Amino acid sequence: MKKNLHHPAESSDEISVSESLAWAKKFQFGDANLWSLEIELLLGEVIGVSRESLYAWPNRVVKSEQWALFADCVKRLNAGEPLEYVIGFCEFWSLKFKVNSSVLIPRPDTELLVGAALALPVPTHELIEVLDLGTGSGVVGLSLAYEKPSWQISAVDNSPAALEVAADNAGALGLNNVRLLEGDWYKNLPLPIESNDGYRIILANPPYLTKEDAHLSGSSLSWEPIRALVSENNGFADLYRIIRIAKKLLNLEGWLLLEHGYNQRVGVENFLLDSGFVDVKCLRDVAGNARVSVARHTKFI
Ligand SMILES: C[S@@+](CC[C@H](N)C(=O)[O-])C[C@H]1O[C@@H](n2cnc3c(N)ncnc32)[C@H](O)[C@@H]1O
Repeated sequence: MKKNLHHPAESSDEISVSESLAWAKKFQFGDANLWSLEIELLLGEVIGVSRESLYAWPNRVVKSEQWALFADCVKRLNAGEPLEYVIGFCEFWSLKFKVNSSVLIPRPDTELLVGAALALPVPTHELIEVLDLGTGSGVVGLSLAYEKPSWQISAVDNSPAALEVAADNAGALGLNNVRLLEGDWYKNLPLPIESNDGYRIILANPPYLTKEDAHLSGSSLSWEPIRALVSENNGFADLYRIIRIAKKLLNLEGWLLLEHGYNQRVGVENFLLDSGFVDVKCLRDVAGNARVSVARHTKFI
C-alpha cells in the first residue's frame, strides 16, 4: 500500500546513508526485496557511489540537496513509477541508455533481437545497411552500431520525443554510424546511404500487445507510452505491416528479425511464409517463450 512520505530531517544536512535507507524502507511499496534494491540503487545513484559502498560506509553524510533529490525520487517510486524513469537511465547490452516517459523501458528479452542480428551470416567487418524500426530509446540499433562500427544503421520512429532520447544516447555512446529518421514504419524512408541494393538486415521490436494486456494493473506498462505497446488486430497489425513491405526494401540476401509476443509465433511465422520469406525460425527467451522470429529473403521467390 502507498503511504504518505514525511521528511525525517526536513532541514538537516546531517542525515547518514543508513538513516536515509531506514527512512525510505518504511515506505515499502510492493515486494520488500525489490523495494530495498530499488532504494539502494537510487541512493547510490543520487550520491554517486556504488550500492556496495552504501554498506561499506553507512555513516557517510547525505548532503541536503542529495537528500531532497532522494526523497523526491522515493516519492515517485512510492507512487509506482518505474525505477528506470525515476533515475533516468537503464542498462541494455551492458551499455547505459537514457530513458524517460517518451520511450519504452528496454526489456532484457530484447537483447535476444540484438544477439540474433549479430549471429547472422552477414559480413561483420564490411559496410552493410541495417534498418531498426521503432527504435524508441535506440537500444537495438545503437547496440548494433556500437558492436559493428562498419555497419550503417538507420533507426526509425514516429515519435519525435523518442528520437530525441535516441539522439542523446547515440551522442553519449559516441556513435557516428547511425542516422535517426522520423517516419511511419517505411513511409518516406530514404534509400540506404551507401548502397542501392537494399538493407541487409531489417529488425523491429514493434508494439504487439492488445489493449487488454496494456492495462495489466500494477505493472509498469501503465507508465509507458501506449504507442510503444499496443497494436490493433490482436497485437498483429504492426507486425503484419512491417512484414508486408519488408521484402521491397531488403537486399536479396537480407534478413528480417521481429520481436513478438510469446503467443504470436504461429501467426508471425505463417505471415512470413505467405509473404515469401524462407528459413523462418523462432528464438526463445530465457523463460523459454517464443520471442524473436528470424526469416530470410529469397531471390528465387
Ligand atoms: C515496443 S517499442 C520498442 C522500442 C525499442 N526498440 C526497444 O526495443 O526498447 C516500439 C516503438 O515503435 C514506435 N512506433 C510505434 N508505431 C510506429 C510507427 N507506425 N512507425 C514508426 N515507429 C512506430 C514507438 O514509438 C516505440 O518507440
